[in-house]
Amino acid sequence: MVALVGLGLASSLASTSGQAAAQGLTAPLAPLPVAVEENTEKVALGEKLFLDPRLSHQGRNACVSCHPLDRGAMDGKIRGESAYGSAPLRNTPSLFNVAFNYFYNWDGGATTLEYQTEKALLNPKIMNMKWPELLAFLGAEPEYSRAFSDAYPDGLNRNNVLNALASFERSLVTPNARFDRYLRGEKHALDASEEHGYRLFTVMGCVACHQGINLGGNLFQRFGIFGSSKPDHEDVDAGRYEITRDEGDRGVFRVPSLRNVAVTAPFFHDGRAATLEQAVDIMAQRQLGRVLSPADRDAMVRFLNTLTGEYRGLPEGGERPRVR
Ligand code: HEC
Ligand code: HEC
Repeated sequence: MVALVGLGLASSLASTSGQAAAQGLTAPLAPLPVAVEENTEKVALGEKLFLDPRLSHQGRNACVSCHPLDRGAMDGKIRGESAYGSAPLRNTPSLFNVAFNYFYNWDGGATTLEYQTEKALLNPKIMNMKWPELLAFLGAEPEYSRAFSDAYPDGLNRNNVLNALASFERSLVTPNARFDRYLRGEKHALDASEEHGYRLFTVMGCVACHQGINLGGNLFQRFGIFGSSKPDHEDVDAGRYEITRDEGDRGVFRVPSLRNVAVTAPFFHDGRAATLEQAVDIMAQRQLGRVLSPADRDAMVRFLNTLTGEYRGLPEGGERPRVR
């Protein structure tokens, strides 16, 4: 059964994720679809798996432990904390609107959600699972084996576990941000200062990197184009180089989505910025060689606050929609 999930207000505005992604490629910025088409049975099964700590070795972590859905689908920590006491992870990215990213992880090391999900399950620092252990557990749970047989003709297997989880991840869409309503023609959805922030975002050139339907998620760029060539931070993450082993990719990272950015602090791959004000100042200086006036920075932050959408009809994080 195919149905519309992630329903917001007007389902008549729905479009499929495929169409939306195609629009995102050509338009500099585009609103999220109000709903996406996913198989409801697979999404429900994927959600059950996402919430279940028994998917991790020793049952210490569920996906939701680090990607809580009422808090921007990220844990709010500087870096993700492994339950297995090993070396620190990077800052946890939000899982909202991941269907509209073209690369996953800060180094873009995965290009499909299924592959990224398998990496999360098997990574010793994340879920620390092995396929035989996981399939044996799911097969021994009557509820799971029944749900897999109902949702898939070939029942429980590795591909279907990954497909169910990825189907749920693709359903994590947060439509109806005030900025999206503005893009759809509701000119009063932004006030004058937010609109000024949007103009700055465009004319200063933030939009050259943070573009498409997710305002990011589709490019790689150096972090720190202007200023010192030495890292301005103790962090020495090689970024994209870890994947390509190309010297030119040292210090290059995926440009992240800015959707729901007001509820996904702290920021950057190493969580170095605690507030949006700090993140915007760092971006203006290091990516564009500019110093923002306090008024312009404030307007930019106010604009970024309009990118917070709704999950299952409720505003994500703390922001409440204004009544006008
Ligand atoms: C211990 C915390 C933790 C747990 C548990 C966890 N994740 Fe993550 N997740 C992270 C971190 C940290 C990253 C970023 C990794 C990187 O860039 O190196 C990430 C990245 C991701 C991404 C990439 C998102 C993007 O746009 O780049 C996806 C998708 C994802 N996780 C899905 C899952 C799923 C599905 C599960 C459960 C099977 C899961 N995660 C469990 C911490 C966690
Ligand atoms: C040349 C490309 C480029 C430009 C221009 C650019 N950014 Fe970025 N932005 C990036 C990259 C790359 C990252 C990820 C850096 C990292 O953590 O490794 C990023 C990260 C961010 C983050 C942190 C998001 C998060 O979830 O951690 C914010 C906020 C942001 N940018 C806002 C802006 C604003 C506002 C502007 C304009 C003043 C801007 N950016 C201009 C490439 C760019």
